[in-house]
Amino acid sequence: MKDFAGRIAVITGGGTGMGRELARQLVAEGCNIAMCDVSRAAMDETRRLCEADKLPQGLRITTHLADVSDEEQMLRFRDEVAEQQQTDRIHLLFNNAGIGGGGSLFTNTRAQWERTFNICWGGVYFGTRAFMPMLEKADAGHIVNTSSVNGFWASLGPTVPHTAYSAAKFAVKGFTEALITDLRLNAPHIKCSVVMPGHIGTSIAANSRKIQSDTIQSGAGQDTLSPDEIAQARTRFIAAGVEPSVLTDEAVQAMVAERERSFREEAPMTAAAAAKVILDGVKAERWRILVGHDAERLDAWVRNTPEEAYEPDFHARFATEIGWKLG
Ligand SMILES: NC(=O)c1ccc[n+]([C@@H]2O[C@H](COP(=O)([O-])OP(=O)(O)OC[C@H]3O[C@@H](n4cnc5c(N)ncnc54)[C@H](O)[C@@H]3O)[C@@H](O)[C@H]2O)c1
Repeated sequence: MKDFAGRIAVITGGGTGMGRELARQLVAEGCNIAMCDVSRAAMDETRRLCEADKLPQGLRITTHLADVSDEEQMLRFRDEVAEQQQTDRIHLLFNNAGIGGGGSLFTNTRAQWERTFNICWGGVYFGTRAFMPMLEKADAGHIVNTSSVNGFWASLGPTVPHTAYSAAKFAVKGFTEALITDLRLNAPHIKCSVVMPGHIGTSIAANSRKIQSDTIQSGAGQDTLSPDEIAQARTRFIAAGVEPSVLTDEAVQAMVAERERSFREEAPMTAAAAAKVILDGVKAERWRILVGHDAERLDAWVRNTPEEAYEPDFHARFATEIGWKLG
């Protein structure tokens, strides 16, 4: 698909980050947008930003509250899209919503683990199932599934357990790669791509914490950590080598806030730049879209030395080459 004008795109997790920037850039190219998110306020802001960017006449932007990990909500989202966009077909599906957290089988709860897995993997699976009939009816379609560098390297370094997110992102990558053949045989007018971003400057760290603690919709206490969250963050900081005696509740709270800020503001690539790489990849019909110089280099490192990928010094050596901040 070389041209998005007049098409209809569905974006999950359109409230912030890369989903928001995909929406803005697609709207600027004349594409209709239907987005879902768990935050109504975030989607309202995305819509406001899209409208501020001078909307082509007649273009539709619709917003839908839906949790991608719940199939019933995804089917309702699909039905709302059909009704509000007045269509029986869509052309682009961005299965983008995702969160982190719940990475340890030992120090996280099973509910946290499954929340991350069910959003990151279930969201892609239910999204694809729900919208496939509408993609089949279009003259051309493209499914864009967001994985991560953690879809080929299951690590955030030697001190951070990362099982739920990595398992889900590997599933997204394997599913999308296998889907290439299924689509070629059964629906050749639909293409698909797996997106593997490196570090992109978004609020995913803060959003994941809020979704894991159920405060994203209410907004209540969003920036104050609960005692459980403080205990889990303290465990992570101690594993990373921080001296336990300095980790008062206030210090842990401040360190978490600083990490969320620096993840967003000190990244090598912005969400807008990432969205452009993704859309250029779709236009070029690339099935494999690495986003960022760090993602491209990590792909090469893991392929070149797979047996070393989970050795403790691999992350430090890679971070030094690429300029990732450690700790
Ligand atoms: N930022 C990065 O460095 C990075 C790197 C690799 C992969 N990714 C992936 O990119 C995608 C977008 O992440 P981002 O960095 O833009 O994060 P983000 O937090 O800014 O955006 C994600 C959006 O998804 C929404 N969301 C979360 N759970 C949801 C659910 N259950 N149902 C519906 N919406 C939900 C959030 O409210 C948020 O608006 C994610 O899949 C993430 O895993 C991000």
